[in-house]
Amino acid sequence: KPQLLIDTDPGVDDALAILMAHAHADVLGLNIAAGNVGLAHTVRNARTLVDLLGASTPVFAGCASPLVRLPEEDAAFVHGRDGMGDVGFPEPVVGATDEHAALALLRLTRERPGQITLVALAPLTNIALALKLDPSLPTRVKRLVVMGGAVTGHGNTGRVPAEFNVGFDPEAAHVVFEGFPHFDLVDWELTLRHAFDEAEFDQWLTAGDHRADFFGRVFQVARQSNRRSGRKGIIAADALAMAVAIDPTVVRRSEQRHVGVELDGRLTRGATVVDWAHRLRLPAQANVVLELDQAKFGAMVQRALGA
Ligand code: BDR
Ligand code: CA
Repeated sequence: KPQLLIDTDPGVDDALAILMAHAHADVLGLNIAAGNVGLAHTVRNARTLVDLLGASTPVFAGCASPLVRLPEEDAAFVHGRDGMGDVGFPEPVVGATDEHAALALLRLTRERPGQITLVALAPLTNIALALKLDPSLPTRVKRLVVMGGAVTGHGNTGRVPAEFNVGFDPEAAHVVFEGFPHFDLVDWELTLRHAFDEAEFDQWLTAGDHRADFFGRVFQVARQSNRRSGRKGIIAADALAMAVAIDPTVVRRSEQRHVGVELDGRLTRGATVVDWAHRLRLPAQANVVLELDQAKFGAMVQRALGA
């Protein structure tokens, strides 16, 4: 079983990814960032998930804001004002630990060098901070899988080519993309190509156990926002990245390229720039995932819902 450390801002699709992780892997911790909504909410949502799972996964609160500039937007219109569907869950029982997420990342990778797959499902603030504290971090990480970017410029934020996680904290993404010599990149456009059929997904929700009931409830707001945007099917960006983290053989096609992050740009701050034609002669550090095995991906989600 892979050993996962998950950096996350739950988040409805984060929630699904966290359910998948607990069904298929050993989860060493949830490192929490601000992103979809503020840190107080994302920490609380993570604790709610740990309660639901009856797990003992530690929750490490991390950075409450990006490294440099304040974000221009959050994603409450997708995930709900509380970040997890505004269901009104009671105060969770499990607490958060008082170790900062960036320090937990450094400690855990020292305790288990070469064993941990780091799964980044949020703005990359915590991981960038950890890298600045200790640039040798990548040598101790087995794999890094990032949900972020929009590799041909079809983003999902107010800055058209920027994807949310990278667009929320471009400097952090830049630090991570420059600091890690190798990572898998699961971008927003891949998400759009790997939607689930809505009727099939609803069958899983009906057939599943308490995890499916839970997800069905938190998913309502995101489902409406998805419909409003005219998209067909069920999309869950973070679940794709989690699938790649749990089982790399789910990847059908990928290309190794250099990916940079635009930090300025009147229209393009937060865009991911892929050197498709290898013109920059920079190290091709990103394994850009271009296609997944949809059936395998679906089976992983289904099992995570107990269906
Ligand atoms: C990413 O942004 C967030 O809204 C989602 O949780 C996902 O991590 C998609 O762009
Ligand atoms: Ca997320």
